[in-house]
Amino acid sequence: MNHSYFLRSSLVFCLCFSVYSFTAVPPKHKPKTIEQKIDSLMATLSLDDKIGQTAQRGTSSRVKGPLAEALKTAVRNGRVSSVINVVDIDKVNELQRIAVKESPHHIPLIFSRDVIHGFKTIFTIPLGQAATWDAESVEAGARIAANEASASGIRWTFAPMLDIARDARWGRIAESAGEDPYLASVMAKACVNGFQGKDLSSPNSIAACAKHFAGYGAAEGGRDYNTANIPEQLLRDIYLKPFKAAKDAGIATFMTSFNDLNGVPASGNRFLLKTILRNEWKFDGMVVSDWNSVSEMITHGFATDSSQAAEKAVNAGVDMEMASNTYEHHLKELIRDGKVTLAQLNQAVRNVLRLKYRLGLFDHPYTQAPTSPAVLTAANLAAAKKSAAGSLVLLKNSNNILPLTSAVHKIAVIGPLADAPHDQLGTWTFDGESKDTQTPLNAMRQYWGKDNISYAAGLAYSRQHSHAGFADAIAAAKNADAIVFFGGEESILSGEAHSRADLGLPGSQDSLLMELSKTGKPVVLVIMAGRPITLSHVLDKVDAVVMAWHPGTMGGPAIAEVLAGEVNPSGRLPVTWPKTSGQEPLYYNHTNTGRPATKEAYVAIDSIPVGAWQSSLGNTSHYLDAGYLPQYPFGYGLSYTSFTYDDLQVKNSAIPVNGRLRVSAQIANTGKRKGTETVQLYVQQLTGDLVRPVRELKGFKRITLEPGQKQMVEFSIPAAELAYHHQNLQLATDPGKYKVWIGKNAAEGLEGSFVIK
Ligand code: BGC
Repeated sequence: MNHSYFLRSSLVFCLCFSVYSFTAVPPKHKPKTIEQKIDSLMATLSLDDKIGQTAQRGTSSRVKGPLAEALKTAVRNGRVSSVINVVDIDKVNELQRIAVKESPHHIPLIFSRDVIHGFKTIFTIPLGQAATWDAESVEAGARIAANEASASGIRWTFAPMLDIARDARWGRIAESAGEDPYLASVMAKACVNGFQGKDLSSPNSIAACAKHFAGYGAAEGGRDYNTANIPEQLLRDIYLKPFKAAKDAGIATFMTSFNDLNGVPASGNRFLLKTILRNEWKFDGMVVSDWNSVSEMITHGFATDSSQAAEKAVNAGVDMEMASNTYEHHLKELIRDGKVTLAQLNQAVRNVLRLKYRLGLFDHPYTQAPTSPAVLTAANLAAAKKSAAGSLVLLKNSNNILPLTSAVHKIAVIGPLADAPHDQLGTWTFDGESKDTQTPLNAMRQYWGKDNISYAAGLAYSRQHSHAGFADAIAAAKNADAIVFFGGEESILSGEAHSRADLGLPGSQDSLLMELSKTGKPVVLVIMAGRPITLSHVLDKVDAVVMAWHPGTMGGPAIAEVLAGEVNPSGRLPVTWPKTSGQEPLYYNHTNTGRPATKEAYVAIDSIPVGAWQSSLGNTSHYLDAGYLPQYPFGYGLSYTSFTYDDLQVKNSAIPVNGRLRVSAQIANTGKRKGTETVQLYVQQLTGDLVRPVRELKGFKRITLEPGQKQMVEFSIPAAELAYHHQNLQLATDPGKYKVWIGKNAAEGLEGSFVIK
């Protein structure tokens, strides 16, 4: 055989073989994109199937027991897209099996739940988490919540709540990150990263939901569900900022809100859902209504009946309807009558299916039972304790009474929240349980020894008026070296539909504190509440005040460690603290007025001479009986050590509009303990196209310093961050003069100035 023959025949063989293999094995296709998968699936769906994909059904939050047959049947018929509040893994898998095996198109369900500040391991309330100013710990908390919830089959949470809350009367301030758009945006991003993880399709990632879109926190008078009137500039510059941050962080879903915004209910608000969310922000995720908020547009007086409610909601851009079923009942006829286009419905269904593909539900519809404990693990509890301890804000500490030193042997633990496991969990904790919760009383007994703690609640619950328990409390106090009083609000006094007109300590807590102060023993007041509490009656009767929010499962040990000085408090207020309820709404980033008060113009109202002339009191913007200052400013919080600020340097005092502000200051720990300081950067534009806030937070850095240690802290902020919406609604940074502060809170700081050219 000569070589050429061999080569030729091998070539022929190879060619034949490759032709053979080419025809026998189908060519490899590029994997379909999610959009192509949606196209294919959409082509097979009937109108009823499509409408089914817009429906969320389920039970109310705490219903236990067997799955309702009606729900199973609806799933089997493809009439349900998402299920809310089924959390048992067996029931989740059973419903999913029906959807995937028995429904006409085998489309998986998404199981959803309000996992707001933890699932089984409850973290401090969101307002408390914001008080940590610690994005890393907030992200870690959301990751833990996602791990715990997804182990039960939950793949979608209705969090974070991103409503800016400028009014502490509003009960849902507890669920918010407070009043500031910058801080809330940092928290928004941390929550999205934590809940959704790096890959939304991983089985322990859960879709997050930016709620409530939008303006809900501006409910007039702080009364929940009330109308919100927000001029467009303010809406864009303040209220929408955290939502935009969540969108930019890749949040999977948005939820509409209950309120009307400037007269248009959010669930029928095209401007919010189409103009802003879809057209300007290019959001391609899914929008769900709030619970019944579509049908409630009838009660609002925005829709005549449930058919018109469905029409307005779907045309505005609500993709999925939670709880009410106007879509199910009316979309077919609305499409037939041309009031809703098929294209509009298709868009909604595509948004729903996209979420299901992104979550990987088509590939992995079922939840695997965890092989090791998934909830309340030691690591999860430790993270909850760290977050709660970091959220504690030391508001007052006369004579450094805290931390309680070794000279304090016997402590009287008093107050309605010292041993109230349910209440310390706070609002929106469907799955956290009292039995898993460590109260301050338990923790303090462990810490100081049972014999050194005497306990008398004095009041059985926060609203109690009876003084029957006072005598025991006073007796316990007299035999102690110090009193720690756990007061505040039960969890039921904040949260949805739980607004308060009076922000004082409820019940007879003020009276009990006054009696305790008469014993002459030092009094430490620890407040557990979902909002700031006005303290004007008792502030001078107590030596120290610690704001502990509703601190969650591990609140007890977290507080004990701070009281004992093992943890140096580092929380800072995410909300301005009022002296009196009548100051609300109250927020630091207000505008100036033409007659600002410059010194505290407070005059005891009774001391005004009868017949005095108006002008003798000064014509400035203040309250006769409360002045103009808050009790504590935004950003405020003390430490067991002290920090000084020096050497402010504005590195470039003339900045181009597209340049950056660079400014630094030196921070020193001048006390005797290691401590963490939150260094805050504020800016004010002196003159604008619209009047500008007296200060706006534009950055912050948390630094930990040993005693005697100093650190230069530098901020570099793009001038674009100083832009705002002008009268013509254009977003622009103005040339002109600005002030800048680096300081401890919104009322202090080293002041400098710069210009934008
Ligand atoms: C609340 C939402 C919540 C929904 C589902 C509504 O009442 O406003 O924040 O996610 O219920 O429970």
